[in-house]
Amino acid sequence: MSAGFNAEDLGRARAVPAFHPSPASDRTAPFGTPERPLPLIIDSDPGLDDALAIGLACASPELRLLAVTTVGGNADVAHCTENALRLLHAYGRDDVPVAEGAAGALLGDVVRATDVHGLSGVGNAQLPEAPNSPRPEGAIALMAQLISDSPEPVCIAPIGPLTNIALLLRLYPRLAPRVEHVCLMGGSIGEGNTTAAAEFNILADPEAADVVFRSGLPITMMGLDVTHQALLDRRSAQQLRTLGTRSGAIAAELTEFALERNLGWSGSTTSAVHDAVTIAHLLVPDLVTVARYHVAVETGHGPARGRTVCDGLPNRLRRRGFEANADVGILIDRDRFVRLLLYAYARLP
Ligand code: BDR
Ligand code: CA
Repeated sequence: MSAGFNAEDLGRARAVPAFHPSPASDRTAPFGTPERPLPLIIDSDPGLDDALAIGLACASPELRLLAVTTVGGNADVAHCTENALRLLHAYGRDDVPVAEGAAGALLGDVVRATDVHGLSGVGNAQLPEAPNSPRPEGAIALMAQLISDSPEPVCIAPIGPLTNIALLLRLYPRLAPRVEHVCLMGGSIGEGNTTAAAEFNILADPEAADVVFRSGLPITMMGLDVTHQALLDRRSAQQLRTLGTRSGAIAAELTEFALERNLGWSGSTTSAVHDAVTIAHLLVPDLVTVARYHVAVETGHGPARGRTVCDGLPNRLRRRGFEANADVGILIDRDRFVRLLLYAYARLP
């Protein structure tokens, strides 16, 4: 939930390439149903909005949550791992294993978003202690094991920097065909948030993002263009609190922290729940509209480092020998998204 402009003022915000707005296309991401839940690994840096994304997944019978793996991002990885364990405990899902992954980027500086999420990653929340410990083999080995053991191909929802996913692809290339889809939060067609060029998750490890976007895996990119339409406000926080549950109280507290921060920073009365858009897309077939783009990641060290360069112009793609490598989120039905979150939390303890 990063500080944003008041997206409500923009009406139905659209993907904003200056020249060629790609038309909507059919989704390539699968979606789960209660009869055929999608096996899913969430790779995360919880994180205020990560916490809500994990809650949405925990409550959804359309998904079979195999693990939550952690990566340094919003906060130091040790905090992120502890947060993942405690959140799953609060959500009544101690059955889901947690394993810790990379502490920082493959190359270059460690980038944190503690100004956005607080030093611990979850604002001022004091989450109740969890009985479980992280799995000893670590995030990459656990992902590899789960993917190779799964009878069906597995989906991955990376909602932090892409370091663990790049390492997985490099260490276990033979498993790539067993990954059905990568539905990630990161990047943007338009402006960034951490810099004018780059969104946080991509800026935090551009080299890893480059590996992932070049991997040939089926990818959906939920970037800022769409996640800045997935907004909660005071009323939604109040509705979460009114549920009267432990999980509802946690979600309300995290949302209120983000709202307070945004109000102070920019006068905005809303907060984007970026990461939950990935999970929502894997649950609901027609909630998010996507368009096909070729996405390349800028790994240079100039002002555009971490930018996702999204090209959807057919002639130019042909001329350059590029094919689209990702579905990119461009529109979401905000009211439906908020209802989805509220109904999910109403099912959690
Ligand atoms: C992304 O960056 C993080 O701060 C959020 O958790 C989200 O994954 C938004 O840019
Ligand atoms: Ca995140």
